[in-house]
Amino acid sequence: MTCCRIGVSRPLILSVRGDIKHLQPCGWRVAIYLNKPTISQNIVLNLQPPDFLVVFVLLSQGASVANTTSALTSARKKKNDEFYTQRSDIEKELNNYNHLSKHNHFKDKVVFCNCDDPTESNFFKYFADNFSALGLKKLICTHYEPDENKKSYVLTITRGRDINNDGKTNRHDVEKTEMLFSNGDFRSPECIELLKQSDIVCTNPPFSLFREYVAQLMEYNKKFLIIGNQNAIIYKEIFPLIKENKIWLGCTMNGSNRWFRVPDNYENSPAIKIGDGQDGFEKGVKYCFVKAVVWFTNMDCQKRHEEFIPRNYKNFNESEYQKYDNYDAINIDNVNDIPVDYYGVLGVPITFLHKHNPEQFEIIGATESEGKGFSCGIWRGGIAQPVVNGKRIFKRLFIRRKKETKNGN
Ligand SMILES: C[S@@+](CC[C@H](N)C(=O)[O-])C[C@H]1O[C@@H](n2cnc3c(N)ncnc32)[C@H](O)[C@@H]1O
Repeated sequence: MTCCRIGVSRPLILSVRGDIKHLQPCGWRVAIYLNKPTISQNIVLNLQPPDFLVVFVLLSQGASVANTTSALTSARKKKNDEFYTQRSDIEKELNNYNHLSKHNHFKDKVVFCNCDDPTESNFFKYFADNFSALGLKKLICTHYEPDENKKSYVLTITRGRDINNDGKTNRHDVEKTEMLFSNGDFRSPECIELLKQSDIVCTNPPFSLFREYVAQLMEYNKKFLIIGNQNAIIYKEIFPLIKENKIWLGCTMNGSNRWFRVPDNYENSPAIKIGDGQDGFEKGVKYCFVKAVVWFTNMDCQKRHEEFIPRNYKNFNESEYQKYDNYDAINIDNVNDIPVDYYGVLGVPITFLHKHNPEQFEIIGATESEGKGFSCGIWRGGIAQPVVNGKRIFKRLFIRRKKETKNGN
């Protein structure tokens, strides 16, 4: 049987239409494989790296592989990295770090938005409009031209400049527009030079380059607040940083599905909608639905110090909590069932990180299915996926309650 796996290296909305007789069963099989929903006659998959698509499934059901591969190729060609973050999503998160919060991380700082076309980016607009309120020293903005032969440019706004004499420093005070020698790739030497001059990087980087993007921020020891996919928590390159408390999740979005503005030429699909002027969606503008969106940061925020009190407030009881067959830990399916008096190792869904307070819990590791050595000694060997009573379950993080806290939790 013909079989090939197509890896997805960037978010991809795949919509295949066709004869319901063939597509529905194959849609279910693909969906079950990927654990994704399908929508009746259209197979709609919102693929996020590192998903993959098993093409033999489609072939075996008689659907056209040309459809599938050309959808993948054309999606790639169509610059599927262009998802513009909504201003409201930025404001909600930034309010936990700015002058309205206990901290003002931005005071006297140089902020760099390095994946941001200033004509489109609400990150640039947010920092420019709030330049004085945040107490910024400088805002730097660069963007990417996919055509390598095209040059990008750099915009800066510097404290004290008031070009239009309106008494404020804001988006009307863009100081200079310097052409870059390159197309604005965040990895280019000139963008790295700008990175070195900055204190905080804040953007939604290309999902397809997320690992490289974070590695560069860590290499240059930068503070950051960036958008990514929840699955990135468990990437081999990212999880060790989370475990060591070098990166954590932000305060909002929390893995929810969000709408991002996309260019007008994005192909229509059920994941795309045209704004109707209601609920913050601009009339006539295209938006795309993206699943499991989170903020990643290394800047402190209040939420990180809030004690997590499981809603179900249960005490540990051997008959209720099951041990894994292959890990020395007890299994928790719902974080609200974490026993309040248990100090051994707990296996929890990765969504626990939205509740994580490092003063309360220690992250021990994750299941071996996510990375060799991730379980830090609690794996007994055999199957890498967590197994409970012979049944494989979804990936887990391993955590341990640290100590009794002020509420006894
Ligand atoms: C998910 S979009 C977000 C855009 C913008 N930051 C926002 O939040 O509205 C990612 C952006 O990264 C840009 N990009 C892609 N590859 C890049 C690279 N190598 N260097 C810098 N930017 C890149 C894309 O052009 C795209 O605009």
